[in-house]
Amino acid sequence: MTAHAQAYRDPGTPEEQSRRQFLANATLAIGGVIGLVVAVPCAVSLIPESLLKPNAAGGPVWTPLSAAEMKALESSTAGPVKININFTYQDGYLPPAGDTQFVWGVKLRPEQVANFQKTRPDLFRPASKVNYPAITLNFVLFSSICPHLGCKFNWDAGAKRFICPCHGSEFNGEGAKLAGPAPRGLDPLPFREQDGKAEVTWIQYKSQTPDRIIVAYS
Ligand code: FES
Repeated sequence: MTAHAQAYRDPGTPEEQSRRQFLANATLAIGGVIGLVVAVPCAVSLIPESLLKPNAAGGPVWTPLSAAEMKALESSTAGPVKININFTYQDGYLPPAGDTQFVWGVKLRPEQVANFQKTRPDLFRPASKVNYPAITLNFVLFSSICPHLGCKFNWDAGAKRFICPCHGSEFNGEGAKLAGPAPRGLDPLPFREQDGKAEVTWIQYKSQTPDRIIVAYS
């Protein structure tokens, strides 16, 4: 899996990604999935080729967000949005099986993108080892799995931070670690627009390590 992930095409420098996101944003209609449809060429161009085709032998699989979930993310103004996803888990030996997870969606205003990049240098080159854009169309989708030992963390609107109930790891709204035993910040997931639908790939990363090592896709 890791070798597969390392084959991803370089998405470009943060400045290049930012410029492409700006151009994509400029084509978006106000809110709604309709805006995403307009931005198809820009969005798809950000996605590594290796993530475009599901791999029945255990590679990445794209799962659509419902229109309602995408609308909630687009209209969010009060912080991260919890998004339920019905993934289909695949591997090389067992038939596909359903798996419901949730992710945390963060909507960045254009002026917040630079701050996100500054706050999360681990997600952008040259420090990043994540070979897909952490930000797509000004959205970031975080895995809900805590990088410490895999518990599900929640967004505390009062504290304005993600808090893991198991051992107290805390992360700010950009997913940077603030406190606790977690070895790294939150893990972004690949996110794209395809044929008018917003889609995400679920990746399970290895816990208890500063590096992002892919354990499984689904
Ligand atoms: S699993 Fe989240 S802090 Fe330990």
